[in-house]
Amino acid sequence: MSANTNSSTAVEKAEEYYNSNDADEFYFKIWGGEHIHVGIYNYQNEPIKIASQRIVPRMAEQLNLDVFKKVLDLGSGYGGGARYLAKNFGCHVTCLNLSERQNERNQQFNMERGLDHLVDVVYGSFEEIPLEDNSFDVVWSQDAMVHSANRDQVVAEAHRVLKPGGHFIFTDLMQDDNIPNGVLGPVLERIHLDSLGSFEFYWNEARKNGFELVSIDNMSQHLVTHYDRVRQETEKQYDEIVDACGKEYIDRMIQGLNQWVKAGHNGHLSWGILHFKKS
Ligand SMILES: C[S@@+](CC[C@H](N)C(=O)[O-])C[C@H]1O[C@@H](n2cnc3c(N)ncnc32)[C@H](O)[C@@H]1O
Repeated sequence: MSANTNSSTAVEKAEEYYNSNDADEFYFKIWGGEHIHVGIYNYQNEPIKIASQRIVPRMAEQLNLDVFKKVLDLGSGYGGGARYLAKNFGCHVTCLNLSERQNERNQQFNMERGLDHLVDVVYGSFEEIPLEDNSFDVVWSQDAMVHSANRDQVVAEAHRVLKPGGHFIFTDLMQDDNIPNGVLGPVLERIHLDSLGSFEFYWNEARKNGFELVSIDNMSQHLVTHYDRVRQETEKQYDEIVDACGKEYIDRMIQGLNQWVKAGHNGHLSWGILHFKKS
């Protein structure tokens, strides 16, 4: 990818990628089922699905959610996080996502679980949220803003749609704040982008937009474990997953995952929970 990936290219790439059959099969079967984000691991070889679910209550416990609260989930994938929040707190969750394929699965799960009255699914990009100003108590996002070439705009949009006093809480795949130039090339290639956010980047953008800091929880060690577990599972289920996604996709995926594990071991990548409040 060129050094000047622009915003619309990144949005189109993300849409095309998450709508593809290969990505759908791979993420759904290997990554964590309904939860396609980094997990919190209690031990090294823990099943990905169990570790992935653990981050959701960890984020939710930082919020005072109840039946009166309105939550917006940016880049909601299959809606695993949204259903957890709706089921456990009775809050209303709007899922915003640009993959129609994921949105269909999300709606299907919501109906099957009897949660469709609490979870709405909206097609759109978080760089231009198609929703009203000052309309949500919480903006939530898990490992999705990484796909933007315009993360400053995503932070500004989150601020716009939040009510005063509202909370912006998210996890993201980020880079360490102090890394040598150029070391992330192979990592960025996997996600077709030129850069990653960082804890410092997001805090600066949040401050510029009028957010105050609630907390930043650096849990980068889990990123390395997670990518290593995804690589191990892909190799273990190689024949089966190649049948579903094709050899080219899976071989490229394993190569990409190896790069992420290596960069993580070298301390170049970061992951954790960032929590801000609109003044
Ligand atoms: C790694 S998945 C995470 C999904 C979900 N948050 C989860 O944790 O299970 C990244 C998600 O971001 C979504 N996404 C990427 N770019 C987006 C954009 N510009 N607007 C809305 N969603 C986007 C993708 O469709 C995908 O669902």
